[in-house]
Amino acid sequence: MKFFVDTANIDDIAELAATGLIDGVTTNPSLVAKAGRPFTEVIKEICDLVEGPVSAEVVATDYDGMISEGRKLAAIAENVAVKLPLTWDGLKACKTLTGEGTMVNVTLCFSANQALLAAKAGATFISPFIGRLDDINLDGMELISDIRQIYDNYLFDTEILAASIRTANHVKESALAGADVATMPPNVIKSLAAHPLTDKGLATFLADAEKAGIKV
Ligand code: E4P
Repeated sequence: MKFFVDTANIDDIAELAATGLIDGVTTNPSLVAKAGRPFTEVIKEICDLVEGPVSAEVVATDYDGMISEGRKLAAIAENVAVKLPLTWDGLKACKTLTGEGTMVNVTLCFSANQALLAAKAGATFISPFIGRLDDINLDGMELISDIRQIYDNYLFDTEILAASIRTANHVKESALAGADVATMPPNVIKSLAAHPLTDKGLATFLADAEKAGIKV
């Protein structure tokens, strides 16, 4: 499973990229707004920090506007994945931009039928939003499983990018359901390494090593 970090914070991306555990980055207008810097400048900087896909979202809602913004974003760096909303115009723009060789991440997916359309439009990634479905008492993980089955039934190569991940459990369940990628905030990525028994066991080992005078 690939791990993308879901942030536009350069310091967090640099720290995580240095671990070698990160395969890409996703941003959205809300995350870029938090960074408080010019959009294209932030995306360029992120693209220089990571080799993998960096999702940058259009703000136009009509086909022509999406194509024009998508081409500008794609020109920033080779690893830009243009992020388009799952609307009719977004799907049309997806078909055009992927036809030009641009990676496209179709975002704001909340149903299996939407994911099926995105795959038919040639999307590189489909982003089902797990957490936002759970927020309204629907089953985000069931959506991932349904999309996995549909994509496997028809051999679509669109990658399932589990998004709106809020917890370590979401990551485990997405991996079990066969998502290709999980994008998550930096704190969720770091929380994957945490276990109280690891901390307890390490404390005991270190205490015993000190008592015995073990030095490496
Ligand atoms: C993914 O591409 C989105 O940026 C993100 O995962 C949305 O997460 P949220 O629902 O926690 O805002």
